[in-house]
Amino acid sequence: MPILSVPLLLRWSRRLLLGLLVLLAVVGSGRLVQVAWQSGYDGAREPYLQVVSSEGITLRWQSGGNEVGVVRYGSDPARLEREAREETARVSHEIRLTGLTPATRYYYTVGSGSGVYRGGPDYWFVTAPPAGSAAPVRFWVQGDPGWWHEGSRSVRDAMLQWTAAHPRPQRPPLDLWLTTGDNAYTSGKAREFQAALFEPYADLLRNIPYLPVYGNHDARRWTFFKVFSFPAAGEAGGVASDSRRYFSFDYGSVHVVVLDSESSNLGGYGPMLRWLQHDLAANRQPWTIALFHHPPYTRGSHDSDRWRDSWGRMVDMREQFLPVLEAGGVDLVLSGHSHVYERSHLLACHYGSAATLRPEMIVDGGGGNAAPYIKPAGRVPHAGTVYAVVGSTANLDHGPLDHPAHAVVRRELGSMVIDVAGEGLDAYFINAYGEVSDHFRIEKSAGMPAAERRCGE
Ligand SMILES: [Fe+2]
Repeated sequence: MPILSVPLLLRWSRRLLLGLLVLLAVVGSGRLVQVAWQSGYDGAREPYLQVVSSEGITLRWQSGGNEVGVVRYGSDPARLEREAREETARVSHEIRLTGLTPATRYYYTVGSGSGVYRGGPDYWFVTAPPAGSAAPVRFWVQGDPGWWHEGSRSVRDAMLQWTAAHPRPQRPPLDLWLTTGDNAYTSGKAREFQAALFEPYADLLRNIPYLPVYGNHDARRWTFFKVFSFPAAGEAGGVASDSRRYFSFDYGSVHVVVLDSESSNLGGYGPMLRWLQHDLAANRQPWTIALFHHPPYTRGSHDSDRWRDSWGRMVDMREQFLPVLEAGGVDLVLSGHSHVYERSHLLACHYGSAATLRPEMIVDGGGGNAAPYIKPAGRVPHAGTVYAVVGSTANLDHGPLDHPAHAVVRRELGSMVIDVAGEGLDAYFINAYGEVSDHFRIEKSAGMPAAERRCGE
C-alpha cells in the first residue's frame, strides 16, 4: 500500500479535478444539444400583427421553407392594390407596411412570389387612431398566459363573449392585445410559443396587434426576441429607446410604456430609467399605462417585500421606477409574475415595504362602480396611480393576498379588458366563468385642483 505523501495527494487531486472538468464538459454539451434540439420550431406559422401605429403595422409569419415574402393589402377586400415584398428569401417573415390611413380597416394576404399562403375576408387589421385623438380605445391584457389548457381557453372565450356583448360601433372587438409577461411556459421555447400562443390564438392574432412583455420564463431561451417585433425606434410615438426590451408608443389618447424588469439594469442610473424619464417628460397624451412583469406590490405567489424573492426585482421596481412613473403622471401600472389578481387603491409615494404604507399615501380608496377614482385632468405628478397584478390568465397559485396597498384581490383565472374614452378609464377583470369579478374606473376631473404632491412631506 503506498504511503500517503504530499506529492501523491496533489497528483490525485489533479486527476480528480481533471475528471470533474471532463464530466462537466460532457454533461454541459449534451444539455446544449438538448436545449437547441428541443427549442426550435421550423414549421409554418400563421400571420400575426405587431407594432401598430396610426400609419403603419408589421406583419409576421413563418413559411415551411425559404421564400421571398409578399404582402398584398388594401381597404377594399375585393381589390388589394398595394404590395410589399422582402428582398431575400427566408423562413421567418417580417414586413412593415407604412403610409397607411389612421383608424382604417385594411385587408391583406401573405405569401410568396409563387402564391398566397393566407388571406381572405377574415384577414384584416385596423390602424390606430391619430395620437391624441379622443377616439375610444379598448385593450386586452393577459397575465402570465403561457399555458394553453381548458382554463386559459375559458379565459379567452369569456373575454370574447364580453366584448361581443359590449360592441363598439365601427371598431374591432379589441384594438390592442398586451400581456404582463411569461408568455410561454416553461422556458420560452419556440415550440412552447407555438403551443401556447400561435396555434390556439391564430384567429385573434391575424386581426389584433399583439405586444408581449418580457417575463422570467421568456428569458430562459432565445425565441422571444426572434419572433416578436418591438417599437424600439419610436415608430409608433414615444421617445426611441433603441432597445427591444423597453420602449413606448401612443395609441389614440393613451401612452403605453413597457419596461423590462427581468434582464435590464434596474439601478437608479441605468439606461432604462434615464430613458423613462425622457419619455415621460415628452409625453403629451392624457392617459398613460405602464407594464412590466415583476409587481411592486403583491402577496400572491410572490411577496414583493422579500429581497430574496425574484432576486430583488420587485423591490427595485418599486424603489427605483415607481417614483419616476408617478412623477410622470402614470395612471395605471400592470404587472404579472404573481399568479393571482390584485388591484390597489389610488396610491402615491409608497415606495417601501407593506408595513410603511401610511393613510396619506392612499389618495383615493374608492374605484368601484359607484365610486370612481378621481384625479385631476392631465399628467399631474403624484396625483395617484392604480397598480394591478394581472397574473392569472393561465396559472393560479396560493398566497395570503393581504398586501395593504390592494383594495380588491381575487384568486381566479382571468384577464383584463381596458376601455379608455374621454375622461374615463374603465378596467374589467373578467374571470374564466365570464363574470366581471372586478371593475374600477379612473376619472379625470377638469374641476379638480392640480396641486402637486411632494413625496416625503
Ligand atoms: Fe414570472
